[in-house]
Amino acid sequence: MSILLATHFGRAELAQWQALLQAALPDEIFVTQRSAAHDNDDNNSDNNSDIDIDIALVANPPAGALHGLPKLQLIQSLWAGVETLLADATLPADVPLARMVDPAMNAAMAETALWAVLSLQRGFFDCAAQQIARRWQPLPPVRANEICVVVLGLGQMGRAVALRLLQAGYRVVGWSAREAEVPGVQCLHGEAALPAVLAQAQVLINLLPLTAATHGLLEARAFAQMPAGASVVNLARGAHVVDADLLAALDSGRLKRAVLDVFQTEPLPPAHAFWSHRQVTVLPHMAAPTDPRSAALIAARNVRALRSGQPLQHLVNRTRGY
Ligand code: NAP
Ligand code: GLV
Repeated sequence: MSILLATHFGRAELAQWQALLQAALPDEIFVTQRSAAHDNDDNNSDNNSDIDIDIALVANPPAGALHGLPKLQLIQSLWAGVETLLADATLPADVPLARMVDPAMNAAMAETALWAVLSLQRGFFDCAAQQIARRWQPLPPVRANEICVVVLGLGQMGRAVALRLLQAGYRVVGWSAREAEVPGVQCLHGEAALPAVLAQAQVLINLLPLTAATHGLLEARAFAQMPAGASVVNLARGAHVVDADLLAALDSGRLKRAVLDVFQTEPLPPAHAFWSHRQVTVLPHMAAPTDPRSAALIAARNVRALRSGQPLQHLVNRTRGY
C-alpha cells in the first residue's frame, strides 16, 4: 500500500516533507502525483498507484484530489483547520479525517496572541505609526491586569492562548460551544452567552474553526456589543469576519485596531483596504504555521496507529465541522 501526499507545497517544501516522513516511516511508499488519467475518469483510473493508496496526507489539496481512491482508510490533514477539505463535495464521506494537532503550533499561536495583546496594551502599534511620521509621543501606562481579553474558541489553540495571556497578567474570558473549564479563565459557552462575552472584550481574539455556525460571526452587531475602543485580533479564518463591517467599525472609531492574520482571499489582494488602513495590522497567515519538523512525526503516529489497528488521534467530527 502507499501514502498519497496531496498538497499545495512547492518543490523545496515538498522535498522537506518527503524526507521527514520517509525518515519517520521508513517502510512506507509515498506518492506525490496521481495519474493524469484520474482527472478524466470518474470511475477511478486503473493506475496501480491510485488503487494502492490507502492513506492521504493533505495540505490544502485541490478539490477532487481524494476522489476515486477505493482503498482509502485515513485522511490526515497537515493543517489544523479543515473547512476547505470539508467543503469539497468529492471528499470520501466514510473515511476518517484527522486534523493536525501539534503542541508546537499551539505554542506559536500563543506567542502571536501575546505579541498582539501586549502591543495593543502598550501602544506599540501606535509607536510604529509614530515612527513613520517621525513623531515622538510617549504613551500613558496601561497595566496588563487592566485589560480583559476574550478568546473565542477554547480548543487546542484557544486554551494555549488563554493560559499564556493569563500568565502574562491579563484577565481572560473564554467562549466555546460546550461547557469548558480552563483554570483562571472565566469560561462561557453557547450562543446565548455571546453578548455577555463580547461586552467584556477590550481585546477579542478569534480562534474558532470556520463552520456554518461561525461564518461571518464577527460582523456589525458583534462589534456594536464590544466596549468602545476595543480591538479585534483574528487568527482563525478570514471568513469569520465581515470585512466591510470591520472597516466601518474602525472608521467610526467604534473599534481601535484590528490585527489580522487571515483573510477571505489569500494572499490578501493588493487593492484590499486592509493593506493601507492605519488601524489595521496585516500578517501573511503565519500566526501558527504547521512546522514540518514536528507535524511529520504527528502524522506518522496516526499512520502507525492505522497500520497496527490502534485508535486514530484528533479525528474531525464531520457533523460539527471541526
Ligand atoms: P479546536 O481544537 O477544534 O477548537 C475549536 C474551539 O472552538 C472549541 O473550543 C469549540 O468548542 C469552539 N467552537 C466551535 N464552534 C463553536 C461555536 N459555534 N460557538 C462557540 N464555540 C465554538 O480548534 P483549534 O486547533 O484550536 O483551531 C482553531 C482554528 O484556528 C482552526 O480551525 C483554524 O481555522 C485556526 N488556525 C489558524 C492558524 C493560523 O496560522 N492563523 C493556525 C492553526 C489554526 P467546543 O470545545 O465546545 O467544541
Ligand atoms: C492554519 O491555518 C491551519 O489551519 O493549520
